[in-house]
Amino acid sequence: MKKQQHIEVRDPTWRLHLTWRGRTLLRWSWKRQLLQRVLPIPFPARHVEYSLLASTDDDIQPSERLLRLALQAIQRAAELRLDALDRRFPADFPYPPSLWPGQQYRLLAALEEILQPRRVVEIGTGGGVSTLALKHHLSPDAQIATFDLIPWAQHSDSCLTTEDFADQRLIQYTDDLSDPAVMQRHRALLSRAELIFLDAAKDGVTESKLLANLRHVPFAKPPLLVLDDIRVWTMLKVWRGIPYPKLDVTSFGSWTGTGLVEWLGTPSSRR
Ligand SMILES: C[S@@+](CC[C@H](N)C(=O)[O-])C[C@H]1O[C@@H](n2cnc3c(N)ncnc32)[C@H](O)[C@@H]1O
Repeated sequence: MKKQQHIEVRDPTWRLHLTWRGRTLLRWSWKRQLLQRVLPIPFPARHVEYSLLASTDDDIQPSERLLRLALQAIQRAAELRLDALDRRFPADFPYPPSLWPGQQYRLLAALEEILQPRRVVEIGTGGGVSTLALKHHLSPDAQIATFDLIPWAQHSDSCLTTEDFADQRLIQYTDDLSDPAVMQRHRALLSRAELIFLDAAKDGVTESKLLANLRHVPFAKPPLLVLDDIRVWTMLKVWRGIPYPKLDVTSFGSWTGTGLVEWLGTPSSRR
């Protein structure tokens, strides 16, 4: 077959990517470069992200229940250990899952221990760190349904193994819940969720779609939604737009932002 000879310009993620005969000539993240000229990063760090500060008095405030739950979970996270999860990483790994504050996994496990949900739903299995934090602290009679677009075994950095799924308390679905028809197909499963951890694409589109779809799920009782990366630029508007009692617990979760939401749903879904 004759090889195509053309210059391709793609820019869906604000990156200029020039290729010639399948070879990369130039890869340039121009938006970030431009930003760094206007707003230079004032100190060195392993990883930095731009964010924004906004008043909270004109946003939805947390409920008493949510505040109490957060305080309890923070206290529990301070003493909780994730040794079995840390052991899946090299001993000298600089930011193991149990690093806290800074990583959200201890808070996630603490929330699960307190709430004791019978059904946990995770959207964004990724490398499986959050999946395992949840699995290791799951009540014996409970189940986790974790969703991703990619099967866990095909994920290059997965810390999951076949044994993690052996007891049937952890099931992965490779389905895209940002599609309303797919969400509808899983409606029965989702409606029993008592804890939902959402950590998906953060592309400024997917999470909005996922949350819009979740609003139509007739939850048996309002679940707790834990939303990851709420301080990341593309997630700021998503977080701000959530119309339910919510609390930013970033200082006790992931450094990129962790939010807790009492997911009340729309009146039509509160049946
Ligand atoms: C940051 S990773 C998740 C990390 C994981 N929760 C952890 O803490 O170890 C994000 C994952 O979301 C998945 N993803 C992206 N869009 C999705 C969607 N619409 N539904 C489910 N998963 C999605 C990606 O394939 C990726 O594996």
